[in-house]
Amino acid sequence: MKLWGGRFETGPSAIFEQFSGSLHFDKKLVQADIAGSQAFTRALARAGILTSDEAQQLVVAFEEIGKEAADPKYFDGADDEDIHTFVIRKLKEKTGALADKIHTGRSRNEQVSLDTRLWLRTSTGTLLDQLAALLSELLTLARKYPDAIVPGYTHLRRAQAVLWPHYLLAYFEMFARDFERLRQAKARIDVSPLGSGALAGSGFPFDRDEIAHDLQFASITRNSMDVSGDRDFALDFLYSCSMAMLHLSRLAEDWILYSSEEFGWITLGDGVTSGSSLMPQKKNPDSLELIRGKSGRVFGDLTSLFITMKGLPMTYNRDMQEDKEPLFDAFHQTSGALATAKVVAESVVLDPKRPAAAAEESWVVATDLAEELARRGVPFHRAHQLVGKLVLDSVRANKKPSDWTGAALAAFAPEFSADMALLLQPGEGMKTREIPGGTGPASVGKALDEAEIRLSTMRRALG
Ligand code: ARG
Repeated sequence: MKLWGGRFETGPSAIFEQFSGSLHFDKKLVQADIAGSQAFTRALARAGILTSDEAQQLVVAFEEIGKEAADPKYFDGADDEDIHTFVIRKLKEKTGALADKIHTGRSRNEQVSLDTRLWLRTSTGTLLDQLAALLSELLTLARKYPDAIVPGYTHLRRAQAVLWPHYLLAYFEMFARDFERLRQAKARIDVSPLGSGALAGSGFPFDRDEIAHDLQFASITRNSMDVSGDRDFALDFLYSCSMAMLHLSRLAEDWILYSSEEFGWITLGDGVTSGSSLMPQKKNPDSLELIRGKSGRVFGDLTSLFITMKGLPMTYNRDMQEDKEPLFDAFHQTSGALATAKVVAESVVLDPKRPAAAAEESWVVATDLAEELARRGVPFHRAHQLVGKLVLDSVRANKKPSDWTGAALAAFAPEFSADMALLLQPGEGMKTREIPGGTGPASVGKALDEAEIRLSTMRRALG
């Protein structure tokens, strides 16, 4: 069935029809299309275009279609142009001529915007729930090892010692921003386009606010041309997914490294690792590698829609049908990655001795020592030079920080004193970093408590 045809002498070529059809993917919008069409039916009744009996019949028929569509076989053999056409054909099969009134004053241009917004609203809700669950899991993992010391890295070289919870709270911040970003995207998705017509506004006197209320939208769009040409809300969603995937890919990379034999800090559960078909000893971090890999794919989804939209003349163009597969894919991959990251986090076992040893063997305490000299009046540049020299001598003599006694340190240069040897333990220097956002143990404890409170506020906002 077609929703057009009067103006044409022949039908579309089979090749074009196959090329342009979108039902095989936009069938995902079926429930959204039905909910939107039911609300539109009620609007038609309020505008006097349908009697309340007619509207009731249509609403019931839509309801049945929604139930039947739960079975994937429902779409077998359908060759309709898109989901909107498919649903109307089904409506016609159920209600006959009455179905011909359903499209009064409505365009697929606004309908596709509506359906996509409804679908995205639900999908965004799912991702927000998943982000909250991951945030909670990170806090649990942080609290399992409150005092564990790990080297923090820059340039993938041991830099300064931090607490394990401090490291995980960095990811908490990233995913908390993703949560906020997705919530903002949701607010821009949550706007009702119905009543916009094809591009010029509907020619029938619909109460747009009432339609929005019916579909629980927060507000209505303000310009009908904008509605037909706009996919900003879809791009907002894709960008939000991309950022979450970016952060997940960095977490994945960290944990791939930290669980390697070379680092040996963490063990990943059997449930999230895979074996090798040839090498019997292998336990590979495939779950994390896939998270890292799929992030590229989601950025591709964002890029794809950016390029589709770039330079399109106002308003609707069929190019825009290409928005759906990237959206569905980005949701599917991001949701899968968030769920997987949570299971991986649950399975992580930290061996605190390993990162502690890595911190102790290296010179992560160098900054602590230089800053202590500066606190005692040595100009920082001089302090930096002195400690640099201490490190150089140690490297040459194959000495670890703990090989220095207080007396040896005091003898190294007049600026040093024996009591400063305490700072050669990575856990000691940390205590000087009691500043908001720093790795001082009290600051981290406070940050953890605050994170719990922030997370419950975030969860409350989800309702
Ligand atoms: N399947 C179309 C899409 O996804 C629906 C809108 C069609 N509108 C049109 N004028 N051809 O974009």
